[in-house]
Amino acid sequence: METMKQETASGLEGVVVADTLLSDVDGEHGQLIIAGHDVESLAGTSSFEEVCGLLWSGTRPGAGEGSHLKSALGRAREEAFAWVPELTRVWRLPEGMDALRAGLAQLPVRGAEGEEVGARLVGAVAVFAAAWARTQAGLSPVAPDPSLGHSEDFLRMVTGERPEPELAAGLDAYLVTVADHGMNASTFAARLVASTGSDSVSAITAALGALKGPLHGGAPGPVLHMLEAIGSPEHAQDWLEGELLAGRRIMGMGHRVYRVRDPRAAVLEKQVERLARAGRSTGRLQLARAVEHAALGVLRTRYPHRPLHANVEFYTAVLLDTLGLPASLFTPTFAVGRVAGWYAHIQEQRRTGRLIRPASRYVGERPKS
Ligand code: COA
Repeated sequence: METMKQETASGLEGVVVADTLLSDVDGEHGQLIIAGHDVESLAGTSSFEEVCGLLWSGTRPGAGEGSHLKSALGRAREEAFAWVPELTRVWRLPEGMDALRAGLAQLPVRGAEGEEVGARLVGAVAVFAAAWARTQAGLSPVAPDPSLGHSEDFLRMVTGERPEPELAAGLDAYLVTVADHGMNASTFAARLVASTGSDSVSAITAALGALKGPLHGGAPGPVLHMLEAIGSPEHAQDWLEGELLAGRRIMGMGHRVYRVRDPRAAVLEKQVERLARAGRSTGRLQLARAVEHAALGVLRTRYPHRPLHANVEFYTAVLLDTLGLPASLFTPTFAVGRVAGWYAHIQEQRRTGRLIRPASRYVGERPKS
């Protein structure tokens, strides 16, 4: 009798691994729903703290959970900062994501799962990312101010100065936009570790490792370098064609799920526009739009049957640059926002009580009988 062989989907595309209340990515229509809300309606109107409440306990933004979590995150940042002097070797690691992974891995596994552990993890990622950036710039880490919102304090800990409100609002909109996004690779990594019954620190450490890769959260730094290398719109087409000829991918373009423009690209582009109107412009927005337009054309010619559009990382690069963050801090800043979603997924996965354990198909030799 012939054995039924299941086809492998090497990237698990289209494979549903969880029922979730947290977010939905509609790749055909370019829609992202975060716990019942369109991303467009959350970014710029709900605070990052409110979105933590939405993801962790389903609390509707505006219901008062934001100010409660603002205090909880403030305390958590202070607690995390107490670890900073003990981890001086970590802050000297040249890669920010390596420092975050190494720093988070030292955190003790304790606290009541739920808001307490969630706040501790979110607080630690922001404090550690800022401590790493300061050390790399030859400066001393700045202690958190627990009275401030998470975004405002993160910028303050990085730059050493309290940011103008429009900059803090720009970062807050960014953190909200990237807080959760379906079963992306790092979220899957977090859920997989949580499914074994392991602890939240281990699950977040795994997620950080997954986020680091250039096919996932590692793209925005290279996007900024691409814009710098292109320099002006008339060079865009030749430069992009050269990349494809050299066998390289165009960073910030394409997505596993979206077949249209990533809705988060538009949300972040609007934030860059808003900042430009407030007099905060690096002048890169026009160049970015021209490069996106040229990339669409070049990719359409090369892959006529595979729609490849701008993804979140394209305008992440322009926005975080406008906020004054160095390119080396872009992926760690992504983690500052996404850790909220990771923790929500860890909790949700635990509630299922089910071990994630897929199968592989053996294609090697069998022992001769
Ligand atoms: N530049 C050039 N070619 C690209 C591309 C890009 N940005 N994105 C996809 N392609 C190509 C692939 O190489 C593949 O070509 P091939 O069949 O000749 O190998 C074809 O388009 C189809 O790609 P697909 O398999 O559907 O992509 P994927 O789902 O495996 O990859 C990404 C999705 C995000 C990893 C991919 O688009 C990419 O590498 N983008 C650049 C990195 C990036 O911006 N990452 C951030 C994601 S939010």
